[in-house]
Amino acid sequence: MVAVASSSSTPTLRIGGLALPSNVLLAPMAGITDAPVRRIALAYGAGLVVSEMIASGWLMRGEVEAMLRTERVEGGFHAVQLTGCDPAQLAAAAEVVAGAGADLIDLNMGCPARKVTGGEAGAALMRNLDHAERLIVAVVERVKVPVTVKMRLGWDETCINAPELARRAEAAGVAAVTVHGRTRRQFYSGRADWAAIGRVKQDVSIPVIANGDVATAQDAAAVLAVSGADGVMIGRAAQGRPWLPGRIARQLATGIPADDPSLTDQLEVLRGLYQALLAHHGRAVGVRVARKHLGWGLAVAAATADAPTDVVAAWRQRLLTTDDPDHVHAGLGDAFAAFAWKEAA
Ligand SMILES: Cc1cc2nc3c(=O)[nH]c(=O)nc-3n(C[C@H](O)[C@H](O)[C@H](O)COP(=O)(O)O)c2cc1C
Repeated sequence: MVAVASSSSTPTLRIGGLALPSNVLLAPMAGITDAPVRRIALAYGAGLVVSEMIASGWLMRGEVEAMLRTERVEGGFHAVQLTGCDPAQLAAAAEVVAGAGADLIDLNMGCPARKVTGGEAGAALMRNLDHAERLIVAVVERVKVPVTVKMRLGWDETCINAPELARRAEAAGVAAVTVHGRTRRQFYSGRADWAAIGRVKQDVSIPVIANGDVATAQDAAAVLAVSGADGVMIGRAAQGRPWLPGRIARQLATGIPADDPSLTDQLEVLRGLYQALLAHHGRAVGVRVARKHLGWGLAVAAATADAPTDVVAAWRQRLLTTDDPDHVHAGLGDAFAAFAWKEAA
C-alpha cells in the first residue's frame, strides 16, 4: 500500500492563474454533479468542481438544461465544461460562459457516449487530433480564462494518443489536462491505467490531473505516485459521498482519515441536497433527479451504521417511491434513526 502523503508533498495546484485550495477535484458527471451537488463538494473542501458537460449547441440555443448546468456555485472557482465539434460554435459558447463569469473552461474530449461521439465530439476527437486541436485553438484564442481539456488515453488500445493530444493542447495554450486512464473502447470496463497517465505527465509541463478508479486516499496517493500527476479527480466514488474529494484532500494534507461524516451530518447533507435539487430543477424534475441521490445517501448511511439489509430495503422502498417532499424530509429522519438504533443496539 502506498503511504498517504503529507501536506509538504501536496503542493498547491495552479491552473493558469487559479490557485486551487486542494489538488483533489470532483469529476463532472452529467445528471449527477449539478449545482446542488457541487455546492456540497466545495463546502467540504473539493479543490475544484466542474459543471456537467454542456453541448455548445444547447447553450447557443439557450436551452433551459444548458442554463441550469452553467449555474455558478459560491465558495470556489466556477468551472464550466463544454462539448462540441464546430470550432466557431464552441468558441462562441466559451465566450458566452466566460462573459457570464466562468473562471475556467474545460473541453470534454473524453465522453464515450454514442450520442456524443456520434456527433464527432467527446472521445471521438481522440480519433482526429487535428480537429481536436482546431477546437482547442478556437477556444483558447477567444477567451482570457484558463482552458483545460479532459481526455481519455485514446480511442482504443491501438490508438493511445493522450500524450500527443496533451502536447498539442499545451502548445495551443491549454492550462491543464485531465486524463481518464481508459480508452474510449473500454467505456468503464477494466481498470484505469494510472501508469499510462504518467506518460502524459512526462510529455508536458502543464499540470496533469489523473482520473479513474480513485475511491480512497490510498488510491489518490497511489495514482499520484504512479503517474506523477499534479492532482486527482474523483467521479463515481463521490456518488452519494459529495464530501469525498474534500475528505481525501484533507487526509492527504493532514493524515486525518477520510471517513464519512457522522450520521447526523449525513442526514443534514441529504435533506439539504433534496431541498436544493427541488429548488434547482423545479419540483417535478427535482423529485426524479433526487431519487438516485436518496438511494445512494441511504446506502452510505446504512453502511456507516451497519444497518440490517431488510431495514434498509424497507426504507428505500418508502422513500424512493414518494414524490411528497414532506414525506421524504420526515422519512429520512425516521430512516436514519432506525439505522442508528441498530448501531446503538
Ligand atoms: C454518470 C456519469 C456521467 C459522466 N458525465 C461526464 C461529463 O459530463 N463530462 C465528463 O468529462 N466526464 C463525465 N463522466 C466521466 C467522469 O468524469 C470520469 O472521467 C469517469 O467516471 C472516471 O472517473 P471515476 O473512476 O472516478 O468515476 C461521467 C461519468 C459518469 C459515471
